[in-house]
Amino acid sequence: MKVLVLGQGGREHAIVHALSRSPSVREIHVAPGNDGMSRQAVCHAVSWKDTDKILQLCLKNEIDFVIIGPEDPLVDGLADRLRERGVLVVGPSGHGARLEGSKIYCKNFMAEAGIPTARYKVVHTVSATMEAARSFTPPYVLKADGLAAGKGVLICHTLEQLRSGAVDFFEKQTLGTAGTSALLEQFTPGWELSYLVLTNGQDFQALPIAQDHKRLSDHDEGPNTGGMGTVAPLRISPELQKQIDEKIMIPCLRNLQKHGIVYRGVLFMGLMITDAGPSLLEINCRFGDPETQVLLPLIENDFGQVMKSLATGQLVPLKFRPMSAACVVMAAPGYPSDPKKGVLIHGNVFDETPSSYFIVAGAKKESSSSWVTNGGRVLCAIGLGGSLKEAIDNAYVQKAKADWAGVLVRSDIGKKQITSPNEH
Ligand code: GLY
Repeated sequence: MKVLVLGQGGREHAIVHALSRSPSVREIHVAPGNDGMSRQAVCHAVSWKDTDKILQLCLKNEIDFVIIGPEDPLVDGLADRLRERGVLVVGPSGHGARLEGSKIYCKNFMAEAGIPTARYKVVHTVSATMEAARSFTPPYVLKADGLAAGKGVLICHTLEQLRSGAVDFFEKQTLGTAGTSALLEQFTPGWELSYLVLTNGQDFQALPIAQDHKRLSDHDEGPNTGGMGTVAPLRISPELQKQIDEKIMIPCLRNLQKHGIVYRGVLFMGLMITDAGPSLLEINCRFGDPETQVLLPLIENDFGQVMKSLATGQLVPLKFRPMSAACVVMAAPGYPSDPKKGVLIHGNVFDETPSSYFIVAGAKKESSSSWVTNGGRVLCAIGLGGSLKEAIDNAYVQKAKADWAGVLVRSDIGKKQITSPNEH
């Protein structure tokens, strides 16, 4: 089979990596891709925004199906445009992707489906936000409605912080149109997990539970990021798994069907586990980054076949390897607000062993032997092992094989899972 992957970050490299281990996959193409993928895939300098060029790429290379990695093309309706032209696609319709594209739409969808989620109010102005805050207790959560590249969620500990966030969104318009409407939400205390399933809109096949580490620094301190590291599988009780499926996943699918929404792709539930049970924080319409980096190595099936079937609306029963995976993100200085590009990377990004390797997220080749930073999250050090501890140790051994001035890395990825697994 020949596959085209759209995207250019760590998630897409992880998809390419999994496809490269698939016996059924003969050729991998990626647009635009990154230099880290160039050993496994043919990279094409084509933007997803140019549907005609993507279609030409599919025709010229006799592509069997396309996997759309990031949320922006999905929200923009690229999956619909490709399907209309007869291309098989992994990725929801634009309507389905609205679950991620509009936080307000998503919350209303959750409320309609009876899915447990934090109390909220829709706000459009600073004064309405401050008025609404009277019925919430701190910390206040202010979420921009639209896609904001990880910058749209503010946790405000005081009313002053809330006012300043609302001024940024509504008056200074720091997020452009993504922030002209927002949700004010009650903060939900608990512990987070990432639950991803493959779905054809009717049924689903669950992937193992993963846990992300969203804050920049050790002990969950510092600003929120796209994710500084992940581990999987997370062992949760069968009761909790049942609650998540019955209270969240199944009502979500039922509501998709009620609205006749075409969904052939990944549903990614960002969950908070509270004293009262699971509460849905957000729905993403694609694979997680860096969740994908630790989930795909656990799949035992031929990944190409699994994806091709999904593109046709069929679900293959998934089997998983009896092992664990960890991902330690290495970020550029200045990440997340102002990551520095062009910093020389010491080490070999292609250095790998059977139990560890790098996934390239934001790095580029400057010459035949030198690489530089080219984004916020630069490299993902991946470790595999028979236990979570072994996987984490292998990831940190891999991490030590690359370095650059000002590199940002957490030293406690997965630590809580090892030291107090029952508390997560
Ligand atoms: N790791 C969180 C996300 O992919 O949105």
